[in-house]
Amino acid sequence: MLVYTLVILLFSSTTGARNLLGRVEVPQFAFEGEKATLRCTFNLRATRLYSLKWYHNNTEFYRYVPTERKRHFTLQSSSVFSVTEVFRSEREVVVSLGKLRRGSSGHYRCELIAEHPSFRTEAAGAFMTVLAETLGPPVLVGGREIYEPTEVIKVGCQARVSSQPAPRPSLQWLIEGRKVDDRWIRPYATPHGHHGIALHVPGRLVAEEGGTMRAECQATLGTHRHSAYKVLRVRVRLISYLDDYYSTGTTVHTSGSLVTTTVAAAVVVLKFP
Ligand SMILES: *[C@@H]1O[C@H](CO)[C@@H](O)[C@H](O)[C@H]1NC(C)=O
Repeated sequence: MLVYTLVILLFSSTTGARNLLGRVEVPQFAFEGEKATLRCTFNLRATRLYSLKWYHNNTEFYRYVPTERKRHFTLQSSSVFSVTEVFRSEREVVVSLGKLRRGSSGHYRCELIAEHPSFRTEAAGAFMTVLAETLGPPVLVGGREIYEPTEVIKVGCQARVSSQPAPRPSLQWLIEGRKVDDRWIRPYATPHGHHGIALHVPGRLVAEEGGTMRAECQATLGTHRHSAYKVLRVRVRLISYLDDYYSTGTTVHTSGSLVTTTVAAAVVVLKFP
């Protein structure tokens, strides 16, 4: 154990500070004509920054050199996007790309070089795909205005069809802001090639919650998200509950939980050793 620790200490001292570069965030998807925000975080510890640069397909478009007296930083808008510096501190640099085009797709890399004497270089990045069409809200199909408590509420949700080949957004149903349990969800595909997920919720469950619940279908692509909403409405008949109560004599809960919680990761986060 002691030997192991010593080896690590020796190794650290010979290689110097590692992990100068922290998280590098590049959105996986962006849309034509829109913007994308790129973030590069670092922790220099004992060393100082010589330069920080951003590259697109190996072409430099941002440079920050603190020791440069006249121009600390340089932006180089390319033919496929414009660049602005959004934020710069001792810990991170955030740039925004605008006027995105299909050709703005590609590999985005943040490169950091430490000061003399080490001139240690670290880099990390990710691929961003620029899509022709903005992600629209999903389409809800087949829902009705009002249901009976004895019916199953069925509402389909599918992504808007795009005229260009594009990655399919992921879909998810929420009720009152929380993810719907899988047992109330049915994936489907239509003969026309639409894919979706249908909500299949017993009207009884909505009746038990007072007769109305707000349902939301979310379409997510990378960090982009759009929703379509529907109020689920069930006719609440007070009399039927009284009947139930007197006929069974006990209250039985068979409904189970309508919703579960979820956490969605939104950005591509890379951390290089
Ligand atoms: C960058 O590379 C990607 C794929 O490798 C390509 O689609 C894109 O057109 C390139 N863009 C430029 C400006 O080089």
